[in-house]
Amino acid sequence: MSLSLSADQPAVPANADDGVWLECIECGETFAPFDDIRYTCDECDGLLEVRYDELPTFDDFEGRGVWRYADALPFDEGVSIQEGDTPLYEVPRLEDDIGVETLRIKHEGMNPTGSFKDRGMTVGVRVAKELGVGRLACASTGNTSAALAAYGSRGGMETLVLLPAGKVAAGKIAQASLHGARILEVDDNFDTCLDFVQELASRGEAYLLNSLNPFRLEGQKTIGLEILEGFLADYEAVPDRIVLPVGNAGNTSALYKAFRELVQAGELAEADVPKLTGVQADGAAPMVEAIENGADEVRRWDDVETRATAIRIGNPVNAPKALPGIRETDGTAVSVSDEEITAAQRDLAGEGIGVEPASAASVAGLRKLRNAGIVDADERVACLTTGHLLKDPDAAAAAGGDPEPVPGDFDGVLETLSDDA
Ligand code: F0G
Repeated sequence: MSLSLSADQPAVPANADDGVWLECIECGETFAPFDDIRYTCDECDGLLEVRYDELPTFDDFEGRGVWRYADALPFDEGVSIQEGDTPLYEVPRLEDDIGVETLRIKHEGMNPTGSFKDRGMTVGVRVAKELGVGRLACASTGNTSAALAAYGSRGGMETLVLLPAGKVAAGKIAQASLHGARILEVDDNFDTCLDFVQELASRGEAYLLNSLNPFRLEGQKTIGLEILEGFLADYEAVPDRIVLPVGNAGNTSALYKAFRELVQAGELAEADVPKLTGVQADGAAPMVEAIENGADEVRRWDDVETRATAIRIGNPVNAPKALPGIRETDGTAVSVSDEEITAAQRDLAGEGIGVEPASAASVAGLRKLRNAGIVDADERVACLTTGHLLKDPDAAAAAGGDPEPVPGDFDGVLETLSDDA
């Protein structure tokens, strides 16, 4: 099975281009990477993964940001706005409060457009140029559209985004708009938007840059590589567990691929691979359902709802890659309520870290699993926070305190302050 942790390095097929090819995770069919546009397998419609004849070791990485990891990517450089190299914050109070040996926050909100999507786009837009496509498109709960718009404009390309009407946070629409994307607000949810974009892509109307596109996940592998390098530098050991929010399960798939490739390269022992732990909102938790039921497939949820609009997703398209990732690493999946998400957003804010609701789900999930005794007190954990607080200013203001009106004179200000005493 190609997605097993112990899979051998595959033989290089004749259609590889400079040691790079695409392989179907279901039937093993291989394809030349840049001759034609395809997102899934021609034979069986399975998901595709990028394969390499040579896998790098840690010593091969040099420089900063996503392109530090060029040897693990299909190109040496991309359409870049200096993405990656995000902080791995210490959070001593939260670490004590949750009760784990080590807790670090990998804050992907510190990327150029404020989310991890930039890591995928710097690679994805580079591939689009290689393929010579015209218009770039995605469906989005917001962050992908912001990143696509920014990287598309950086690359001088036309961009089209389909968003679920009324369900995308203000900061994200503002970004897509200012960076010049054509925005269609669809009167349905994200999953329908993605169905539509897939149909547009299959009719040749646009090049799809959702995480169904295997090249995007290559860029997102670098989150995992940065976390591992950060832990190795600080603790001489990789984390026991990585907790992350799950929507389409692209990141879960990408981190798992990063770890598999390190295992294949002999850089990481199978037993040391961090446990991938996915967190969804109670109102949009099809992956959690599949993990809890031991199911091989995820059931599509048609009605989804959560305050964490970024992960308001009922049909996680990368599930066939992510389910083995969670299972093979001995991880798990858990869902959290909107109240738990907001509480975690406040917890992080109390350590000076501003995140959007979906991002806080990772910390909320960790707390829940620790309380349930599923996460042990001696674990070293990294939580991924995927997007910046300013992405969703309305959620931030609702979670924070209210401004107090005061008269425009100094005595009035003093009086208001003394009222507290
Ligand atoms: N966190 C944030 C802030 C996101 O924007 C997303 C996905 C996720 C987590 C989930 O990541 O799909 O890799 O499991 N946002 C997509 C978008 C769907 O359109 O911006 P995943």
